[in-house]
Amino acid sequence: MQDGYPGAMTQMGQYPAAGHVLAHISDTHLLAEGRALYGKVPVEQRLAAALARLAAGPTKPDAFVFTGDLTDLGEPDAYKRLRQAVEPVAERLGAEVIWVMGNHDERAPYASLLFDEPETDATQDRVHDIRGLRVISLDTTVPGYHHGELTSVQLEWLSGVLAEPAPHGTVLAVHHPPVPTPLEVMAVLELHDQPALAEVLKGTDVRLILGGHLHYSTHSTFAGIPVSVAAATCYTLDLGADAARLLSGVDGGQSFDFVHVYESQVVTSTIPLDSFPEITGFSVDYRPMIEAMPADDRLEQLSSKTSHLNLNEAAASDV
Ligand SMILES: [Fe+2]
Ligand SMILES: [Fe+2]
Repeated sequence: MQDGYPGAMTQMGQYPAAGHVLAHISDTHLLAEGRALYGKVPVEQRLAAALARLAAGPTKPDAFVFTGDLTDLGEPDAYKRLRQAVEPVAERLGAEVIWVMGNHDERAPYASLLFDEPETDATQDRVHDIRGLRVISLDTTVPGYHHGELTSVQLEWLSGVLAEPAPHGTVLAVHHPPVPTPLEVMAVLELHDQPALAEVLKGTDVRLILGGHLHYSTHSTFAGIPVSVAAATCYTLDLGADAARLLSGVDGGQSFDFVHVYESQVVTSTIPLDSFPEITGFSVDYRPMIEAMPADDRLEQLSSKTSHLNLNEAAASDV
Protein backbone atom coordinates (compact mmCIF):
# COMPACT_ATOMS: atom_id res chain seq x y z
CA MET A 1 0.00 0.00 0.00
CA GLN A 2 1.23 3.45 -0.80
CA ASP A 3 -0.01 7.01 -0.61
CA GLY A 4 2.83 7.77 1.23
CA TYR A 5 2.88 9.75 4.35
CA PRO A 6 5.39 7.75 6.37
CA GLY A 7 3.88 6.26 9.47
CA ALA A 8 0.34 7.39 8.56
CA MET A 9 -1.98 4.73 9.91
CA THR A 10 -5.28 6.45 10.56
CA GLN A 11 -7.84 6.85 7.81
CA MET A 12 -8.94 10.48 8.09
CA GLY A 13 -11.70 10.58 5.47
CA GLN A 14 -14.08 8.27 3.63
CA TYR A 15 -11.51 6.69 1.36
CA PRO A 16 -8.90 4.11 2.33
CA ALA A 17 -5.42 5.00 1.00
CA ALA A 18 -4.85 4.52 -2.74
CA GLY A 19 -3.84 0.98 -3.58
CA HIS A 20 -1.37 2.13 -6.22
CA VAL A 21 0.44 5.38 -6.93
CA LEU A 22 2.16 6.23 -10.21
CA ALA A 23 4.46 9.16 -10.95
CA HIS A 24 3.65 10.28 -14.48
CA ILE A 25 6.52 12.16 -16.13
CA SER A 26 6.65 13.19 -19.76
CA ASP A 27 8.73 14.75 -22.50
CA THR A 28 12.14 14.90 -20.89
CA HIS A 29 13.78 15.47 -24.33
CA LEU A 30 17.32 14.68 -23.14
CA LEU A 31 20.29 15.30 -25.42
CA ALA A 32 23.71 13.63 -25.64
CA GLU A 33 26.52 14.94 -23.43
CA GLY A 34 24.01 16.82 -21.29
CA ARG A 35 23.47 19.49 -23.94
CA ALA A 36 20.78 22.12 -23.41
CA LEU A 37 17.64 21.92 -25.57
CA TYR A 38 17.65 24.73 -28.16
CA GLY A 39 20.91 25.71 -26.46
CA LYS A 40 18.76 27.19 -23.69
CA VAL A 41 16.87 24.65 -21.59
CA PRO A 42 18.97 22.55 -19.18
CA VAL A 43 16.81 19.48 -19.69
CA GLU A 44 18.90 17.23 -17.44
CA GLN A 45 18.49 19.68 -14.58
CA ARG A 46 14.74 19.76 -15.19
CA LEU A 47 14.58 15.97 -14.98
CA ALA A 48 16.78 16.08 -11.87
CA ALA A 49 14.36 18.55 -10.30
CA ALA A 50 11.44 16.18 -10.88
CA LEU A 51 13.38 13.26 -9.45
CA ALA A 52 14.49 15.31 -6.44
CA ARG A 53 10.89 16.20 -5.63
CA LEU A 54 9.90 12.55 -5.96
CA ALA A 55 12.75 11.46 -3.70
CA ALA A 56 12.04 14.08 -1.01
CA GLY A 57 8.24 14.04 -0.97
CA PRO A 58 5.96 11.91 1.18
CA THR A 59 4.31 10.08 -1.73
CA LYS A 60 6.18 6.92 -2.67
CA PRO A 61 5.14 5.80 -6.16
CA ASP A 62 4.92 2.15 -7.17
CA ALA A 63 6.13 3.10 -10.65
CA PHE A 64 7.48 5.99 -12.69
CA VAL A 65 5.70 6.17 -16.05
CA PHE A 66 7.55 8.21 -18.70
CA THR A 67 5.15 8.88 -21.59
CA GLY A 68 7.64 9.45 -24.38
CA ASP A 69 9.94 11.96 -26.00
CA LEU A 70 12.45 10.64 -23.53
CA THR A 71 15.19 12.01 -25.77
CA ASP A 72 15.06 14.84 -28.28
CA LEU A 73 17.03 13.21 -31.10
CA GLY A 74 17.21 9.52 -30.17
CA GLU A 75 20.94 9.79 -29.40
CA PRO A 76 22.39 6.72 -27.64
CA ASP A 77 24.17 8.84 -25.03
CA ALA A 78 20.89 10.55 -24.16
CA TYR A 79 19.27 7.18 -23.36
CA LYS A 80 22.29 6.18 -21.25
CA ARG A 81 22.12 9.43 -19.31
CA LEU A 82 18.37 9.09 -18.83
CA ARG A 83 18.73 5.62 -17.38
CA GLN A 84 21.63 6.70 -15.15
CA ALA A 85 19.55 9.57 -13.78
CA VAL A 86 16.27 7.72 -13.26
CA GLU A 87 17.12 4.19 -12.18
CA PRO A 88 18.96 4.95 -8.89
CA VAL A 89 16.06 7.13 -7.68
CA ALA A 90 13.47 4.56 -8.71
CA GLU A 91 15.43 1.83 -6.99
CA ARG A 92 15.71 3.84 -3.78
CA LEU A 93 11.94 4.38 -3.77
CA GLY A 94 11.20 0.79 -4.77
CA ALA A 95 9.47 2.02 -7.94
CA GLU A 96 9.38 0.20 -11.27
CA VAL A 97 10.31 2.29 -14.33
CA ILE A 98 7.92 2.17 -17.30
CA TRP A 99 9.14 3.73 -20.53
CA VAL A 100 6.94 4.72 -23.48
CA MET A 101 8.15 5.61 -26.99
CA GLY A 102 7.66 9.19 -28.25
CA ASN A 103 7.97 10.72 -31.70
CA HIS A 104 11.36 12.21 -30.81
CA ASP A 105 12.63 8.75 -29.79
CA GLU A 106 14.14 6.08 -32.05
CA ARG A 107 13.12 2.46 -31.63
CA ALA A 108 16.55 0.85 -32.04
CA PRO A 109 18.41 2.71 -29.25
CA TYR A 110 15.23 2.73 -27.14
CA ALA A 111 15.07 -1.09 -27.25
CA SER A 112 18.78 -1.71 -26.84
CA LEU A 113 19.70 0.94 -24.30
CA LEU A 114 16.60 0.98 -22.06
CA PHE A 115 15.71 -2.72 -22.23
CA ASP A 116 19.06 -4.37 -23.09
CA GLU A 117 17.35 -6.01 -26.06
CA PRO A 118 18.67 -6.35 -29.63
CA GLU A 119 18.28 -3.24 -31.78
CA THR A 120 15.02 -3.42 -33.71
CA ASP A 121 12.66 -1.28 -35.75
CA ALA A 122 9.64 -3.16 -34.38
CA THR A 123 6.93 -1.32 -32.42
CA GLN A 124 7.76 -1.09 -28.71
CA ASP A 125 4.70 -2.35 -26.86
CA ARG A 126 5.03 -3.86 -23.39
CA VAL A 127 2.84 -4.97 -20.49
CA HIS A 128 3.79 -4.28 -16.86
CA ASP A 129 2.17 -5.80 -13.78
CA ILE A 130 2.32 -3.48 -10.77
CA ARG A 131 0.92 -5.70 -8.00
CA GLY A 132 -2.19 -6.46 -10.02
CA LEU A 133 -2.48 -3.07 -11.74
CA ARG A 134 -1.69 -3.62 -15.42
CA VAL A 135 0.14 -0.79 -17.20
CA ILE A 136 0.38 -1.14 -20.97
CA SER A 137 3.05 0.88 -22.76
CA LEU A 138 1.82 1.33 -26.33
CA ASP A 139 4.03 2.72 -29.09
CA THR A 140 2.09 5.32 -31.11
CA THR A 141 5.09 6.51 -33.14
CA VAL A 142 5.63 6.47 -36.89
CA PRO A 143 9.32 6.14 -37.86
CA GLY A 144 10.53 9.35 -39.48
CA TYR A 145 7.40 11.35 -38.55
CA HIS A 146 6.01 13.29 -35.60
CA HIS A 147 2.31 12.38 -35.80
CA GLY A 148 0.94 9.20 -34.19
CA GLU A 149 -0.52 5.97 -35.55
CA LEU A 150 -1.35 2.48 -34.34
CA THR A 151 -1.09 -0.41 -36.78
CA SER A 152 -3.82 -3.03 -37.14
CA VAL A 153 -1.33 -5.55 -35.74
CA GLN A 154 -0.88 -3.41 -32.61
CA LEU A 155 -4.63 -2.98 -32.16
CA GLU A 156 -5.12 -6.72 -32.47
CA TRP A 157 -2.35 -7.32 -29.92
CA LEU A 158 -3.91 -4.77 -27.54
CA SER A 159 -7.31 -6.38 -27.92
CA GLY A 160 -5.78 -9.75 -27.08
CA VAL A 161 -4.06 -8.40 -23.95
CA LEU A 162 -7.25 -6.70 -22.76
CA ALA A 163 -9.37 -9.80 -23.34
CA GLU A 164 -8.34 -10.94 -19.85
CA PRO A 165 -9.05 -8.32 -17.14
CA ALA A 166 -6.33 -7.51 -14.58
CA PRO A 167 -7.07 -7.73 -10.81
CA HIS A 168 -6.95 -3.94 -10.36
CA GLY A 169 -7.67 -2.89 -13.94
CA THR A 170 -5.48 -1.35 -16.61
CA VAL A 171 -3.73 1.95 -17.24
CA LEU A 172 -2.88 2.56 -20.91
CA ALA A 173 0.24 4.72 -21.39
CA VAL A 174 0.81 6.31 -24.81
CA HIS A 175 2.73 9.31 -26.11
CA HIS A 176 0.11 10.77 -28.48
CA PRO A 177 -3.03 11.22 -26.32
CA PRO A 178 -6.38 10.53 -28.00
CA VAL A 179 -7.83 13.97 -27.25
CA PRO A 180 -8.46 17.15 -29.26
CA THR A 181 -6.08 20.08 -28.82
CA PRO A 182 -6.85 23.76 -29.46
CA LEU A 183 -3.26 24.20 -30.69
CA GLU A 184 -3.86 23.82 -34.43
CA VAL A 185 -0.28 22.95 -35.27
CA MET A 186 -0.25 20.19 -32.65
CA ALA A 187 -3.57 18.88 -33.99
CA VAL A 188 -1.76 17.96 -37.22
CA LEU A 189 0.57 15.83 -35.13
CA GLU A 190 -2.16 13.98 -33.23
CA LEU A 191 -2.86 10.25 -33.08
CA HIS A 192 -4.56 9.31 -36.34
CA ASP A 193 -7.61 7.02 -36.69
CA GLN A 194 -8.67 7.31 -33.06
CA PRO A 195 -12.04 5.55 -33.60
CA ALA A 196 -10.15 2.30 -34.22
CA LEU A 197 -8.54 2.59 -30.77
CA ALA A 198 -11.88 3.48 -29.18
CA GLU A 199 -13.38 0.33 -30.66
CA VAL A 200 -10.68 -1.81 -29.02
CA LEU A 201 -11.00 -0.09 -25.61
CA LYS A 202 -14.80 -0.27 -25.33
CA GLY A 203 -15.92 -2.68 -22.63
CA THR A 204 -12.39 -3.41 -21.37
CA ASP A 205 -10.90 -2.83 -17.90
CA VAL A 206 -8.89 0.25 -18.99
CA ARG A 207 -9.44 2.78 -16.19
CA LEU A 208 -7.16 5.59 -17.33
CA ILE A 209 -5.17 6.68 -20.37
CA LEU A 210 -1.91 8.55 -19.73
CA GLY A 211 -0.32 10.65 -22.46
CA GLY A 212 2.28 13.32 -23.20
CA HIS A 213 3.32 15.02 -26.45
CA LEU A 214 1.28 18.21 -25.92
CA HIS A 215 3.71 19.78 -23.41
CA TYR A 216 0.83 21.14 -21.35
CA SER A 217 -1.33 19.50 -18.71
CA THR A 218 -4.79 18.61 -20.01
CA HIS A 219 -7.61 16.21 -19.11
CA SER A 220 -10.45 14.65 -21.05
CA THR A 221 -12.24 11.38 -21.70
CA PHE A 222 -11.89 8.95 -24.59
CA ALA A 223 -14.42 6.18 -25.20
CA GLY A 224 -15.69 6.99 -21.70
CA ILE A 225 -12.23 6.50 -20.14
CA PRO A 226 -10.45 9.37 -18.32
CA VAL A 227 -7.40 10.75 -20.14
CA SER A 228 -4.65 12.59 -18.28
CA VAL A 229 -1.85 14.34 -20.16
CA ALA A 230 1.24 15.37 -18.18
CA ALA A 231 3.00 18.57 -19.18
CA ALA A 232 6.68 18.26 -20.08
CA THR A 233 9.67 18.50 -17.79
CA CYS A 234 11.68 20.26 -20.55
CA TYR A 235 9.54 23.22 -21.74
CA THR A 236 5.81 23.79 -21.98
CA LEU A 237 3.47 24.98 -24.74
CA ASP A 238 1.62 28.08 -23.56
CA LEU A 239 -2.12 28.02 -24.31
CA GLY A 240 -2.34 31.55 -22.96
CA ALA A 241 0.30 32.96 -25.31
CA ASP A 242 -0.29 36.18 -27.26
CA ALA A 243 -2.66 35.73 -30.21
CA ALA A 244 0.17 36.72 -32.56
CA ARG A 245 1.88 33.41 -31.77
CA LEU A 246 0.72 30.27 -33.60
CA LEU A 247 2.73 28.15 -31.20
CA SER A 248 4.72 29.26 -28.16
CA GLY A 249 7.08 26.99 -26.23
CA VAL A 250 8.22 28.57 -22.98
CA ASP A 251 10.77 27.79 -20.29
CA GLY A 252 8.30 27.70 -17.39
CA GLY A 253 5.35 25.81 -15.96
CA GLN A 254 7.09 22.42 -16.11
CA SER A 255 5.49 19.71 -13.99
CA PHE A 256 4.82 16.03 -13.50
CA ASP A 257 1.72 14.24 -12.20
CA PHE A 258 0.79 11.79 -9.51
CA VAL A 259 -1.81 9.16 -10.31
CA HIS A 260 -3.57 7.75 -7.26
CA VAL A 261 -5.47 4.57 -8.05
CA TYR A 262 -8.25 3.98 -5.54
CA GLU A 263 -10.56 1.01 -5.49
CA SER A 264 -13.16 2.61 -7.75
CA GLN A 265 -11.62 5.94 -8.76
CA VAL A 266 -8.42 7.29 -10.27
CA VAL A 267 -7.18 10.75 -9.30
CA THR A 268 -4.44 12.71 -11.05
CA SER A 269 -2.62 15.68 -9.48
CA THR A 270 -0.07 18.03 -10.98
CA ILE A 271 3.20 18.79 -9.18
CA PRO A 272 5.29 21.77 -10.33
CA LEU A 273 9.02 21.12 -10.75
CA ASP A 274 9.86 24.32 -8.93
CA SER A 275 9.31 24.52 -5.21
CA PHE A 276 8.01 27.79 -3.78
CA PRO A 277 8.26 29.65 -0.45
CA GLU A 278 5.79 28.24 2.05
CA ILE A 279 3.43 30.80 3.56
CA THR A 280 1.26 28.59 5.78
CA GLY A 281 1.02 24.98 6.90
CA PHE A 282 1.63 22.54 9.74
CA SER A 283 4.72 20.66 10.77
CA VAL A 284 4.54 16.88 10.41
CA ASP A 285 5.02 16.84 14.21
CA TYR A 286 1.29 17.57 14.53
CA ARG A 287 0.31 14.28 12.95
CA PRO A 288 0.60 12.00 16.03
CA MET A 289 -1.61 14.42 17.98
CA ILE A 290 -4.21 14.55 15.18
CA GLU A 291 -4.12 10.77 14.76
CA ALA A 292 -4.55 10.20 18.49
CA MET A 293 -7.80 12.23 18.61
CA PRO A 294 -11.18 10.46 18.53
CA ALA A 295 -12.84 11.15 15.14
CA ASP A 296 -15.35 13.64 16.63
CA ASP A 297 -12.57 15.68 18.27
CA ARG A 298 -10.53 15.59 15.08
CA LEU A 299 -13.45 16.96 13.07
CA GLU A 300 -14.04 19.66 15.68
CA GLN A 301 -10.39 20.69 15.88
CA LEU A 302 -9.76 20.73 12.12
CA SER A 303 -13.14 21.92 10.87
CA SER A 304 -14.47 24.34 13.49
CA LYS A 305 -13.49 27.93 12.72
CA THR A 306 -13.23 28.56 16.45
CA SER A 307 -11.28 25.44 17.49
CA HIS A 308 -8.12 25.70 19.55
CA LEU A 309 -6.12 24.31 16.64
CA ASN A 310 -7.51 26.73 14.07
CA LEU A 311 -7.18 29.72 16.39
CA ASN A 312 -3.78 28.73 17.67
CA GLU A 313 -1.48 31.32 16.23
CA ALA A 314 1.58 29.29 16.97
CA ALA A 315 0.22 26.33 15.02
CA ALA A 316 -0.91 28.51 12.13
CA SER A 317 2.51 30.07 11.82
CA ASP A 318 4.39 26.85 12.42
CA VAL A 319 5.75 26.11 9.00
FE1 LIG B 1 7.74 16.33 -26.70
FE1 LIG C 1 5.94 14.34 -28.91
